[in-house]
Amino acid sequence: MKNTLLIKNIGLLQTPVGSFSHKGAQQGENLKLQQAAVLIEDGIIKEISQDGMLPIGGEEAETIMDAEGQLVTPGLVEGHTHLVFGGYRQHEIPLKLKGATYLEILKAGGGILDTVRHTRQASFDQLYQKSFDFLDEMMALGVTTCEAKSGYGLDLENELKMLKVVKSLDENHPMDMVSTFMGAHAIPDEYKGRGDEFIQMLCQDVIPVVAEQGLAEFADVFCEDSVFDVPQSRTYMECAKAHGLGLKIHADEIEEIGGSELAGELAAVSAEHLIAIGEKGMAAMAKAGTTAMLLPATSFYLGKTFAPARRMIELGIPVAMASDFNPGSCPSLNLQFAINLGYLRYKLTPEEILTAVTINPACAIGRGSRVGTLEVGKQADLVIWDAPDMEMLCYRFGSNMATQVIKKGMLV
Ligand code: NIG
Ligand code: FE
Repeated sequence: MKNTLLIKNIGLLQTPVGSFSHKGAQQGENLKLQQAAVLIEDGIIKEISQDGMLPIGGEEAETIMDAEGQLVTPGLVEGHTHLVFGGYRQHEIPLKLKGATYLEILKAGGGILDTVRHTRQASFDQLYQKSFDFLDEMMALGVTTCEAKSGYGLDLENELKMLKVVKSLDENHPMDMVSTFMGAHAIPDEYKGRGDEFIQMLCQDVIPVVAEQGLAEFADVFCEDSVFDVPQSRTYMECAKAHGLGLKIHADEIEEIGGSELAGELAAVSAEHLIAIGEKGMAAMAKAGTTAMLLPATSFYLGKTFAPARRMIELGIPVAMASDFNPGSCPSLNLQFAINLGYLRYKLTPEEILTAVTINPACAIGRGSRVGTLEVGKQADLVIWDAPDMEMLCYRFGSNMATQVIKKGMLV
């Protein structure tokens, strides 16, 4: 007996199209169906109808949901988080308000290093429960697939602990998880002043174990002034690649030191942040087909400028947007806020924004053929919004606009 769900009375079904290529859909190319219905069978989209018609067999579906004339889109795909961490960093805000910069706080042993201390102290169960609750919150906000990075352990034992938390979450929470190894997130205290040796240690002792145990699909590095320079980032990424991991890089977040050019050179799947990117970096990324994973809520929280998203689209770079949820530069997991900022600050169209929070991040985390669009044969991850169209979602902010979230054909 098949498990069937019919969602009827969808005022507007909007989805990117052309998802089965590796690089994502044409930015902003959306299909819009009026008066639509979706029939789901065993968690997979079986049929989509429009103009008030119902899919064949729709009326016999086990469960029938009424979308009450509202907007339905694919479930949001969160392509960049630092989901698993011990402690919080609210005590840094007064320093920040007095003028201390993000990198100054890090150089003084706070920032990421503060979170490393708390994450090392935390047990697997504590980290698991905290992250599980975050995923509940994210899902209620419309996210159905989530990438998570390690990078607050910075030694073999604690990096593995973080990655195992992500693996367990994938097994036990309805959210689909994608795991990224980010051992090169900061130089830990015990390697202070010895960044090269730390990278060597990651390459010799950690990456091979992570890869062998299948604990990550991607590797990421914080290529930044006074963190890891371009040669160190290159060594780490080449090693990760040799061990079969896909490449990501935190590039040009604060200073433009060449991270986006390196992303292009190594044909990384994505480069993240890119607030300070210049024409050279964009040219390299465009040439390599590297996705720009933009994190507008981090620009907001750090009080920085916003990445040149429009220019990237002009150059044909696939643009994705994510929350960057982490305890320092962006303590919000609300991807709906990134939608608002994408509209108001990047000045993307509602169609470009939908592409940027569904199929483009899905492709950047290796899930483009399974999720990110609403098409027959794809996983039935979708959201019914308290909005008639994408314009409303882009315009309203601060409220949760998701009314129903459906994951693999089940209401969550
Ligand atoms: O993407 N920049 C590096 N990593 C995170 C921040 C992590 C933290 O501050 O804890 C980011 O902004
Ligand atoms: Fe990040």
